[in-house]
Amino acid sequence: WPRTARRRDGALTVGGADVRDLASEFGTPLYVLDEDDFRQRAREYAQAFADGSVHYAGKAFLSGAVVKWLHEEGLGLDVCSGGELALALAVGFPAEKITLHGNNKSADELVQALEAGVGHIVLDSFEEIARLGFHAERLGVRPKVMLRVTTGVEAHTHEFIATAHDDQKFGFSRNSGAALEAVRRVIALDQLDLVGLHSHIGSQIFEPDGFEVAAHRLAELLVKIKEEHGVVLPELDLGGGFGISYLAGDEPIDAKIMADNLRRIVAKECLSYDLPVPHLTVEPGRAIVGPGGITVYEVGTIKDVEGIRTYVSVDGGMSDNLRTALYGAEYTAALVSRESAAAPMLCRIVGKHCESGDIVVRDLWLPEDIAPGDLVAVAATGAYCRSMASNYNFLPKPAVVAVRDGKGRVIVRRETPADLLRLDAEVGER
Ligand code: LLP
Repeated sequence: WPRTARRRDGALTVGGADVRDLASEFGTPLYVLDEDDFRQRAREYAQAFADGSVHYAGKAFLSGAVVKWLHEEGLGLDVCSGGELALALAVGFPAEKITLHGNNKSADELVQALEAGVGHIVLDSFEEIARLGFHAERLGVRPKVMLRVTTGVEAHTHEFIATAHDDQKFGFSRNSGAALEAVRRVIALDQLDLVGLHSHIGSQIFEPDGFEVAAHRLAELLVKIKEEHGVVLPELDLGGGFGISYLAGDEPIDAKIMADNLRRIVAKECLSYDLPVPHLTVEPGRAIVGPGGITVYEVGTIKDVEGIRTYVSVDGGMSDNLRTALYGAEYTAALVSRESAAAPMLCRIVGKHCESGDIVVRDLWLPEDIAPGDLVAVAATGAYCRSMASNYNFLPKPAVVAVRDGKGRVIVRRETPADLLRLDAEVGER
């Protein structure tokens, strides 16, 4: 739950605002984002990596307000599409603090990034090296680039496993020699300024071990690059993936400890090869925006499937949170509009979509007097929920409200049915 979450008069308050008031003012389903929680986590990362850089991964959730908060808290930003880049630039985020990612950036996106003067472009394929070189020369600019390297480490929650290098759409494989070949090609192009290597090993990681293996393999590459080309690349980007608590038992590593671990690991690996310690960048998304977000739903139909469980239907579902259906993600939720002393019963929170897989929370205990009109909130939905939302079944996407000092303020407006109809060629404006 967000750091400012409290119970007042039986109801949940976040950022001092009562969720009942938020629901009646802004409607449901509603994404609520605790601004102080977001800012604090952003600041903690910025401070923990003060000698490096923290680039928030915009894919987790992006809005103009969030971009401004990031800037105020001193973070950089990762974008992976022209749309994310356009939003950041539209609210005045400094281009030099932006990194552009993506395995299939279009020529337009590359040109957009070059014209804006983004700080880094992470190259992901041989084609892209040539394409970026071509456009950089044409525009008379020399962008800083990094190469995304597939280190063969894929992290899964608590453990990590080596994956088949060829079976990946991202980056240059270190094993096959593609990474070194990419270095050769970039160095051969005067228009591109190769400053470092990038690696992202996965998401929702709790242990530093996977990063250790990745850093080791990147350091080996840095040595080879030094031997072959006589250049020492000054930067290393270890990507994101720091885990958060979705369920009571999850114990995320705090930013400071993670930073100390990563710094120690990188220093050890580089020094063992007599390399200077590179400037370290990390790209947390979930760890900054995830915990401070909740989704508030209104309960509708309640169906007791005799002897099995009770299905509690809410007014959203897989269109506003795809993660349960897509990954089997687990969440916790609670009745938030009142206190109840009723006995707990095993429930499943489901959405209103036409799929039996439309599950928001698979198993949880809710008071047996739960009733239509009650509000339930799902915790830790700040990351990858609004950003992965769809209009399945023609549901308009919910609003995002930021709360602080007892007040809610819309930072992303709710879509309306008219918004959806407007896109239809038979109905909307022609
Ligand atoms: N950097 C790169 C290059 C990435 O690909 C990602 C996530 C991140 C940073 C941020 O990772 P984070 O710190 O947020 O874990 N939709 C999935 C997560 C996909 C993440 C893809 N890349 C989910 O809902 O769990």
